[in-house]
Amino acid sequence: GRMWAMLVLLLHPAQGLVPARRGLHSRAPAPLWAGSKASATAVQAPVALEDVAVQWVACAESGAPLTAKNASAFLEQVFDVEVSRDGGLGLVLDELYAANDQSEKGLVLVEEVVKGSNAARTGMFARGDTLTSVTENTVTYNLEGKDWQTTVDVLGSLSSDSITLSVKRLVPRARVQVSVTAADGTDLGTFSCPAGSNLRREFLRRRLPASEIYDSQTMRFDSIGNAGSNCGGEGTCGTCIVAFTQGLDLVAPPSRVESKALQKQNRPARWRWSCRAILGVDNQAGDIMVQLKPQVQFEEEQNKITGT
Ligand code: FES
Repeated sequence: GRMWAMLVLLLHPAQGLVPARRGLHSRAPAPLWAGSKASATAVQAPVALEDVAVQWVACAESGAPLTAKNASAFLEQVFDVEVSRDGGLGLVLDELYAANDQSEKGLVLVEEVVKGSNAARTGMFARGDTLTSVTENTVTYNLEGKDWQTTVDVLGSLSSDSITLSVKRLVPRARVQVSVTAADGTDLGTFSCPAGSNLRREFLRRRLPASEIYDSQTMRFDSIGNAGSNCGGEGTCGTCIVAFTQGLDLVAPPSRVESKALQKQNRPARWRWSCRAILGVDNQAGDIMVQLKPQVQFEEEQNKITGT
């Protein structure tokens, strides 16, 4: 509506988000910004609620789960917080968007966590957070993308002393630097991508030739006796192998399918399928080094040893 249009006009330049305090709560999620260079520089910056809203409002308008408009720059951290209502929650809520019709659609953000309040004592809430649901005695009420009136009506209707709030937070994505070496050891340069990127897709985006991504001599795992083709990134052929010579800890662990296949083919522990490799796991920043088609060198070595 008009209110939102005004907010858009008043938009601040992009500012970083304040990382929340480390949770003292026993169910504290691992902070997603751990080790992130992006958030390290954002510690001083206050959260501009409008900057958060601009990322989520399209979803709020359409009634979809809130996900960032700029998904390569931001991700959503989701966690539950058990909090006492006795004496009030201590969350000041602001409405950044409301459909102002019967739909109850809106976008409500935490404007302030009142010092010394129940909410503050959990150490889990931060300015800019949104509440996605509240659970009281195993009954859950949806609050995601609801307007302020609906939100306070639901919260005001609760009677238990202790409730569980589900919280969604917009977090800047960390960046990962990837240095790439060809099978023969040639340095192919370094690129940077946001945490959560798929390695093969990053190769394709940068127009790395298919002959560098897939080894034409490698037998397909999903088609015994066949080589020279690939599964197109579906995670079945096993021809898109890379060796992580640095930063394997920044790569999400392999799925059961990939890890079984790699084991079956006796692949070294640092080898992974590039089409299944998600970089910057848990929003970690860092440096990664990959060697393309390590099986080429490996087989040459094997042949030397066996004299074939
Ligand atoms: S392209 Fe087939 S497993 Fe990666």
